[in-house]
Amino acid sequence: ILATMVRSEARQFRQFADEVRQGLTEVPKKLDPKYLYDSLGSALFDAICCLPWYRIARAENQLLSRKASELADKIGAPVRIIELGCGSGEKMVTLLRACQTFRKKTSVHLVDVSSTALAWSEQRLREFEKTLVVTHQLDYEEGLQMASAHRRPEETLLVMFLGSNLGNRDTLSSIELLQRIRNKLEVGDALLLGIDLVKPEEELLKAYDDPLGVTAAFNKNLLLRINTELGGNFNLDHFKHRIIWNHAAARIEMHLVSTKNQAVLIPLADCKASFTIGESIWTESSYKFEIQTIVDLVEKANFCSCEQWVDQEARFALTLF
Ligand code: AVI
Repeated sequence: ILATMVRSEARQFRQFADEVRQGLTEVPKKLDPKYLYDSLGSALFDAICCLPWYRIARAENQLLSRKASELADKIGAPVRIIELGCGSGEKMVTLLRACQTFRKKTSVHLVDVSSTALAWSEQRLREFEKTLVVTHQLDYEEGLQMASAHRRPEETLLVMFLGSNLGNRDTLSSIELLQRIRNKLEVGDALLLGIDLVKPEEELLKAYDDPLGVTAAFNKNLLLRINTELGGNFNLDHFKHRIIWNHAAARIEMHLVSTKNQAVLIPLADCKASFTIGESIWTESSYKFEIQTIVDLVEKANFCSCEQWVDQEARFALTLF
């Protein structure tokens, strides 16, 4: 087991180093948002979810609390639940409580790239003594593959993809991931998708560039992570957090902008990156949807929608496919 863990960590380290080198040498410079979630990044994201300006987590939790019994009643038993990107595990708790009411035999697979998020979730789920909880510290594709391999013929599979996590991918890669999910599902199984909706620009900008600077810290922590894990020499004071609402593409773009001409060395990634003043690293996209565009997108992956619950005030939708 130890040897497997060491090999897997070594593989993840190599992948991080390769992707950093590649991302910082292409034009425009880009880094995969999954690297935002080391232990400090996960804690900062949790703090973001508490900010009054960032409403996704709260709106989703409220919707889920109101609809969990309906949902638990609808899905078959025994049920195997796979949550892609479990975060701190709060939403799974809400659903498991409802499943308990219906005495449904449940097992759970938590998939997240962050070991911290998995540890928090596991801790939270301790109250469900009879529920088997398996964690997978992997990205969505690999985690889905591993988790779905446990499925037994008599079980119903429910995949939960919440928190508008799908919005961090562009359209093509969203459809590809949805197709992979669909390939693991059979008739009677389900996908529960939580997606943030388009809202006024001013509201979106505050949600991603909050007055307390928590999102800026979350973004800059990516540079700190590169310094810590790959021996980089980024000076965090020489980069600025910038948020752009790209109306045509319906997405928030998160960037780190260089405030001067500078060169950065990242020895363990075998990388030297040069920045001109104003040049940015694109660290994340958050696509926002209209109700119908969610359904259209997911139906492209051969799902059919069954139920939709919308928080009109916070502009957030939960859809059951
Ligand atoms: C995890 N993900 C859906 C969040 C989002 O809203 O795109 C990450 C985030 N980035 C900045 N604030 C929150």
